[in-house]
Amino acid sequence: MMSFYDRKGVESWSQGIVPHFITCNAFIGRSYAQVLQGYLRDCARKAREDGPGSPLALDPNEPLYIIELGAGSGKFSFFMLKALAEMRELLDFPFEKIVYVMTDFTQNNFKFWEAHPGLRPFIEQGSLDLAIFDAVHDPVIHLAHAKKTLAPGTVKNPVCVVANYLFDTLCHDVFQVEQGVLKEGLISVGSKKGHEPDPLDPEIIKRFENQFRYREIGPDYYCPSSSPSAGAAAATAGVAAGASVNGAAAAAAAVGEGEDKEDALHFRRILRWYQHHFGQSSSGASFLFPIGALRALRRLLALSGGRGLVISGDKGNNHAEQFKGLMDPHIAVHGSFSVMVNYHAIGIYFISRGGFALHNPQEEASLKVSAFVLSGNDDIGEDEAEEEEEGQGGDHVVLSSPTSLPSSSSSWVGPGVEAKGEDRARAFPALRASFYNAVDRFGPNDFFVMQKCMKEDSPNPTLKAVVALLKLGDWDPDVFYKFRDTILNQVPTSGQKLRNDLCRGIPRVWENYYMLDRDKDIAFEIGRFYYGIREYERALGFYMQSSKSIGEHHVTCHNMGLCHYSLGHHLEALEHFQRSLSLNSSYEKARSWQQKVLQEMIPSPLPSPSTSPPISGQGEGGREGGREGGVVPPEVKNLSLEERGDPEVLRGADKGEGGREGGRGRRAETGMVEGSLDG
Ligand SMILES: C[S@@+](CC[C@H](N)C(=O)[O-])C[C@H]1O[C@@H](n2cnc3c(N)ncnc32)[C@H](O)[C@@H]1O
Repeated sequence: MMSFYDRKGVESWSQGIVPHFITCNAFIGRSYAQVLQGYLRDCARKAREDGPGSPLALDPNEPLYIIELGAGSGKFSFFMLKALAEMRELLDFPFEKIVYVMTDFTQNNFKFWEAHPGLRPFIEQGSLDLAIFDAVHDPVIHLAHAKKTLAPGTVKNPVCVVANYLFDTLCHDVFQVEQGVLKEGLISVGSKKGHEPDPLDPEIIKRFENQFRYREIGPDYYCPSSSPSAGAAAATAGVAAGASVNGAAAAAAAVGEGEDKEDALHFRRILRWYQHHFGQSSSGASFLFPIGALRALRRLLALSGGRGLVISGDKGNNHAEQFKGLMDPHIAVHGSFSVMVNYHAIGIYFISRGGFALHNPQEEASLKVSAFVLSGNDDIGEDEAEEEEEGQGGDHVVLSSPTSLPSSSSSWVGPGVEAKGEDRARAFPALRASFYNAVDRFGPNDFFVMQKCMKEDSPNPTLKAVVALLKLGDWDPDVFYKFRDTILNQVPTSGQKLRNDLCRGIPRVWENYYMLDRDKDIAFEIGRFYYGIREYERALGFYMQSSKSIGEHHVTCHNMGLCHYSLGHHLEALEHFQRSLSLNSSYEKARSWQQKVLQEMIPSPLPSPSTSPPISGQGEGGREGGREGGVVPPEVKNLSLEERGDPEVLRGADKGEGGREGGRGRRAETGMVEGSLDG
């Protein structure tokens, strides 16, 4: 797994190899920021109510760390941090003391973030730090800029952990409950090819051939001292990065094995919960145990003494009914590979540790977002004695016998467990409300589905609908890019009010731009937009920005020539058409415009400034919807788009679409494409 991400680096996202739009857009960044805002509000209120010593008290003089695991391209981090900065007045904690820590295990991603212009201002103001951190193996986090190490117990405020599309690729153990008997799944992984010369070649994943078998175990599976076979089993049971190919699973199991002792009680409770829940079920059940995610979370929450909020989005299951039936887990291959995250089990873990979980009950969703809270006091007190007794075969049911069902009288089985969590969640009304509003009522998955369907299901969406979508998505640049042709085609004839609404939002598209995919030249497209509404100076500004950030291109130079021409700057226009031709001598459009301008310049003097078109298409005398609005030079007024010199269109690809199941994007949909960057 590491080898895949390390070899591909940021290309995984920029070339759309790993789908990312669903977790990397302005909407989801804002949603997570709102969830955190709710949590901070509750912490502040609880600290006021509980008085000094409240485990949730926030110290405004100490940093509040948001630690993102597997941050990948860094695009999500950019959006969440930006959203928090924008809501700083509403946060119950000083924004200046919030430190967002982007982590990932690859050097390549780290280097990309270091150099990224969108992240630099945050790094410089101390709101952002970076770390290379392996969520499976590393016990501490070294902050690259603060030159500080976050170790267990050293963080004064509760931590906020964010993990999107990470848990699905960490280690998972496979279990089934068949006729009340708990079984572990053992996977043998091989390649369809007889011989693999490079066992670290990420391409091997595509040739995997998996076989599962199941054998009975006891519920003390994760407690090696009482179950000698557990350690060995863990080495083979996991569905993990490169399992049985490179030994990563065995290594991960060995690392976790010792640590798991701390969580033995919680893990036992989780296994018992499933065994009990499905014990009488005729269909049996199959579930994954997200052991990699749980180990990572235990270590991260230990930084702040077990206090914090986790927000995670992934493909997954968050309700026990989704585990019914006996089947092998589905392993999805998409460059790397992944399985469904059992958010339900993570929820039980948090409840067992004295916390609670918030899940979105929506079933039809590629991206499931859940939030988990720990308040620093593991729930072991009242039931510890009972469980110890059970484990040792007292009067209660002897749980180490694989065939016997857990006692229904235990408070750690049945619906009462989730009810405990719900009860605790009531003490966090602001968090619950923000989770409901930002995730449940209409959340990141809904936004993803909505923009995707609007693109794919309606061939000609109206500009009104596109503006509404852009507003919903906080003027996300990828959404703007996706609907750029609708916008450019309809804005010249749109009503003035709608055009004004669009004009108010376009600067935000640019503010929200996080450069990743050079084919998606947002500055260029914004330049085309402004040209389309006759704001030539602004168009020029964005074309210049495009040349600066993406590089000079003959089409960009050509379009700049058109802007200058429309502004009456014939000399500059000529220079740009010439520059365009020097970049691509066979570019006929620039040649014919060069000749046209030359002809206009030779017989008559340069046009006086008074004949220049207005800066805005809404100039004096402008009419609603008027492309014709304002003072338009006669030679332009009645020409068709093409004759008038409609700015050229760069070829772009709508890549990076989709959740794990959402499928990949398609090539650019426009038939107007000419003069491609690659072509
Ligand atoms: C599918 S990508 C998701 C990236 C990003 N969170 C997103 O939603 O676009 C998984 C990321 O996790 C990182 N990763 C995988 N295993 C990891 C581990 N054990 N520790 C830290 N990062 C890991 C990969 O390098 C990659 O950047």
